[in-house]
Amino acid sequence: MIEIDKVCKRYGDTLVVDTVSLAIPRGGVVGIVGPNGAGKSTLLSVISRLMKSDSGRVLVDGLDVTKTPGRELARRLSVMRQENHVAARLTIRDLVAFGRFPHNRGRPNRDDQERVAAAIAFVGLDAMADRFLDQLSGGQRQRAFVAMALAQDADYALFDEPLNNLDIHHAVSMMRLFRRMGDQPGKTVVIVLHDLNIAATYADRIIVMQNGRVVGDGAPSEVINGRLLSEVFRVEGDVIEIDGRRVVSVAP
Ligand SMILES: Nc1ncnc2c1ncn2[C@@H]1O[C@H](COP(=O)(O)OP(=O)(O)OP(=O)(O)O)[C@@H](O)[C@H]1O
Ligand SMILES: [Mg+2]
Repeated sequence: MIEIDKVCKRYGDTLVVDTVSLAIPRGGVVGIVGPNGAGKSTLLSVISRLMKSDSGRVLVDGLDVTKTPGRELARRLSVMRQENHVAARLTIRDLVAFGRFPHNRGRPNRDDQERVAAAIAFVGLDAMADRFLDQLSGGQRQRAFVAMALAQDADYALFDEPLNNLDIHHAVSMMRLFRRMGDQPGKTVVIVLHDLNIAATYADRIIVMQNGRVVGDGAPSEVINGRLLSEVFRVEGDVIEIDGRRVVSVAP
């Protein structure tokens, strides 16, 4: 379980994460949605200890993330950030192999190599595994970073806008992959998404953030509605149901 207890984060005078408390139990797929600037990435950074909160705390399986050794945390929790830059010139295989570091301290064995190859194949990059990252398209690079998180094989996998730059085929295959991960015993996938229809289709639970606060939390059928469109996203539109799924249609 990830327990987020009254977490606050400020930049200067602005509270960008405002007293957020959430419990994310093991299992399933959790979507986080909300307008630009709502605090989604900041919250993910605090959970994964890339950033320190000003107050409150985050526990992962009872361990305070700020007090847990990095390697131990990395075996439990992985994070793919919204922006990914690597200074070094790396191939896809090199990058994905970093995901195994918490398990092997940089000394990969046969099992690590197989897991790296499997993660690369999962995202459909096996034909170009030895290409350098700067020789890839935006969507291919994005998939390489997802593969690194897959190779880490953590119980809680956090992804910040993993569908950026992906065409509809690759977006759907990636969401199906996340769905399969979330269906494995003990595995939990948390994904920041902008596409409400994708969130409604694949997530068991959707958390809505606005102005640093959690303003909605529940099953897609409870969260995706006209009020979400008008009050949180400030668009006019209808929410219809197709085969029991909520589908958003915005007015032109
Ligand atoms: N380093 C920083 N210094 C000052 N303000 C920042 C900094 N990083 C983020 N912010 C501000 O914090 C707020 C929350 O940013 P955050 O990146 O968490 O939003 P988000 O919900 O992930 O948005 P998006 O959907 O655009 O990715 C924004 O108003 C942003 O301008
Ligand atoms: Mg963000």
